[in-house]
Amino acid sequence: MLRILVLGAAAGGGLPQWNCNAINSASFWRGDQPLQAATQCSIAVTADGSSWALVNASPDIRAQIIARRELHPRAPEEYGLRDSPVRSVLLTNGDIDHIAGLLTLRERHAFDLFATAEIHRVLSGNPIFNALDPELVKRRETAPNAPFEIVPDLQAELFPVPGKVPLFLEGDAVVTDLIGEQTVGVRLSAADRTVFFIPGCARLTAELRDKLQQGDVLFFDGTVFHDDEMQREGVGQKTGRRMGHMPMSGDDGSLQAFRDIDIGRKIYIHINNTNPVWRPHSPERQEAEAAGWEIAFDGMEITL
Ligand code: MLT
Ligand code: MN
Repeated sequence: MLRILVLGAAAGGGLPQWNCNAINSASFWRGDQPLQAATQCSIAVTADGSSWALVNASPDIRAQIIARRELHPRAPEEYGLRDSPVRSVLLTNGDIDHIAGLLTLRERHAFDLFATAEIHRVLSGNPIFNALDPELVKRRETAPNAPFEIVPDLQAELFPVPGKVPLFLEGDAVVTDLIGEQTVGVRLSAADRTVFFIPGCARLTAELRDKLQQGDVLFFDGTVFHDDEMQREGVGQKTGRRMGHMPMSGDDGSLQAFRDIDIGRKIYIHINNTNPVWRPHSPERQEAEAAGWEIAFDGMEITL
C-alpha cells in the first residue's frame, strides 16, 4: 500500500493569504461565498498505515496535524504521554513554506530529517533550527538519485529539478532555474506503485519528463496559471518564472509540457492564492481539468 494525505495544497501564504484582498482571498474576508481554504504545501505518506513521513514542514503544520486523526498521538496506554506517528520529514527546498513547520516539531520528539546537503546548509545556517535537539532529530543528508527507506516499506528518492535558492537567500542576481541540490523532486514508491511529488519546478527538461513517465500519480508545481498572474491581479510585479515556478499556461507551460505524458493521475499542488484554478467555475480551472489535471485540496487522500 502507498497512502498519501494532502495536508496543504497551497503555495507560500496559503489561501486566504493574511494580508491579501485579491479576488480569491477577498472571498474569505467578504464571507459570502468563500472558496475552500487551503494551507501551505505538504503531504503525509505511509506504506504501513502506522508510520508516517511528512514531505515538507509547512508553517501550518500544527493545524494540519490536528485536522488528520492519522497523525494524532496514539493510545497513551501503549505509546505513553508523548507520541507521534510522524517518523520522518523530508524537505524539497529551503523556502519558508517548506521549512518553518520544523520549529513546531521541537517538543522532544525523535524523527529523521532528510534533505540534500545544500538544503541542510540552509537549516544549519539558521541557528533557530537548533531548537530541534540533535540527539532526537537526526539530520540525514540524502544524495540525489539514491533511494532510501523513509518509513518502513516506503522508498524515497530525490532528484534535482530546475529551481532557485530560497527567497530569503537571494542576492542581487538570481538564477531561477539552477539544476542542483537546492530544489528537488521526490519519487515515492511502495510495492509496485510510484508517486512523484514536485511542488516547485522552473522548467520541464526532457530528462525529467522521461523520468516521470509511467508514474501512478504526479503532484506538480501549480503555483501560477498565468506567468504574469501577480501583475494581472495587481498584487506584485514578479512573474511565476522569476519565482522559480513554470506557469500552467503558455507554450512552455506545464499544461502543454505534460499533454501527452503517460501518467495515471496528474495533480497540481503548491497553488498560489492568486491562481484562478482555485475558483471552481473559472475558465482556467476548466482548461486544466480538460487537459486531465486535478487540483489538490486540503484533505485529499490517495491510496494505491
Ligand atoms: C516559493 O515557492 O516561491 C516560495 O515559497 C516563496 C516564498 O517563500 O514566499
Ligand atoms: Mn513555495
